[in-house]
Amino acid sequence: MKLFIPGPISVSEEIAITQTKEMISHRSSEFKELMKECSEGLQNILYTKNRVLISTSSGSGFMEGAIRNTVNKKVLVCVCGAFGKKWAQIATSCGKEVTILNFKEGNAINKEELKNALTKNDFEAVCITLNETSTGIENNLEELVPIIREQNNNILILVDAVSGMGGTRIHVDKLGLDVCLASSQKCFALPPGLAFASVSEKVLEKAITIKDRGYYFDFVELAKEYDENQTPYTPAVGLMFALQEQLKLIKKEGIEERFNRHKKLKEITHAWVRDNGFFIFSDEKYSSNTITCINNTKKIDLSKLKKAMITKGYFIDTGYRKLNEKLLSEGKDETFRIPHMGELSEEELHKFLDTLKIIMGEI
Ligand SMILES: Cc1ncc(COP(=O)(O)O)c(C=O)c1O
Repeated sequence: MKLFIPGPISVSEEIAITQTKEMISHRSSEFKELMKECSEGLQNILYTKNRVLISTSSGSGFMEGAIRNTVNKKVLVCVCGAFGKKWAQIATSCGKEVTILNFKEGNAINKEELKNALTKNDFEAVCITLNETSTGIENNLEELVPIIREQNNNILILVDAVSGMGGTRIHVDKLGLDVCLASSQKCFALPPGLAFASVSEKVLEKAITIKDRGYYFDFVELAKEYDENQTPYTPAVGLMFALQEQLKLIKKEGIEERFNRHKKLKEITHAWVRDNGFFIFSDEKYSSNTITCINNTKKIDLSKLKKAMITKGYFIDTGYRKLNEKLLSEGKDETFRIPHMGELSEEELHKFLDTLKIIMGEI
C-alpha cells in the first residue's frame, strides 16, 4: 500500500531493510561514526553549522524541548492552522505565558500583524510553523525573519519545520533561525521515531540559565553529548541506520535538486487541481512545496473515495478533520490533501493523480 497521507509516508524497501542491520552499542566507535555522519548530513540539508540534535521521539518532543529550553515566561505563537495551535498548546502546558497571533486558516502569517505584535511586548521567543500541514501553507521565512529581527534582535526564533525539512529550502544560518526542528516520517521518507533540531549558540546560552528545562529534551545535555558524537541516553540505533542511508541517497540526488523536484511535484499537483475543476484551499502565493490542500468543490464523497483508492493500492488523505468540521459547520466545502514529499517521483505522482481522477469518475 502506498501512503499518500501527510506523514508517515511510504518508506522504500532499500531504506527499511537497513534497520535490521546487526545492532551496535551506542557507546561504541561505530556509533560515533554513525552519529557524526547523520549530524553532518542534516547540517547540509539545513545549510547550517549549528548542531543538529537527534532525538528518539517524534517532532512534538523537540517542540516541547524548544519551549522549555528557551522560554522562562513570555512567548509569541503564530497560529495559521492546527500545528500553530500545537505550539501554543505545548507552551501553555509547560506553564508559559502565551500570546497567540491568529491568522485565518488558509492564510500565511501576515508580516504587518507580526510586526505589531512584536512591538507590544518583550517576548523571549517566537514560534513559527514553516509548513502548516493542515492547510498547505508554507510561511515565507525570508520575509518574516527580518521583520522579527528588526523589532527584537534578542528574541529566539523557533521554527517547526516538521513537514518541510528535506523538501523545501531552509537556510538556517543565513536566516539566523535559533531552533529548526522536524520529524523523520515526512520529507525524509523514514519511519516515525526520530526528531531533528538545529540549535543555535544563543539557544544554549539561554538554556543554561533555565533551571526547570526538563530532562529528556535538555538541549544543554544533548549538545554536550553531541560534541562527543553521543546521545545522553539510548537512541533508536536502527532508525539511525535508516537515517544514515537516506542521507546518502539525498546527497546523491543533490540537496538543491531534491528541493527542485519537490517544487516540480507541487506544480504537477496544482495543474491537476486546476484541470479537474477543483481549487487550492490556501493562499497560492504561499503554497507549500510538500503538500497541497484542496477545496472539495465537486463534493466528492471522500470516505467512498478513500475506500476505492485502497483497492488500487493507495491510502489517501481526506483532509484535516478539525478543519473540515469547522468548514462544514460554516456551510463551506471541506478539504482533502495531496502530499508530495519524500522520494516520490514525477512518474509516481502522475500515476497516482491519474488513478485518483478515474476513481473520482467512478464513485
Ligand atoms: C507541521 C507539523 N508540526 C508538528 C507535527 C507533529 O509532529 P509529530 O507527529 O512528529 O510529533 C506535525 C505532524 O503532522 C506537523 O505536520
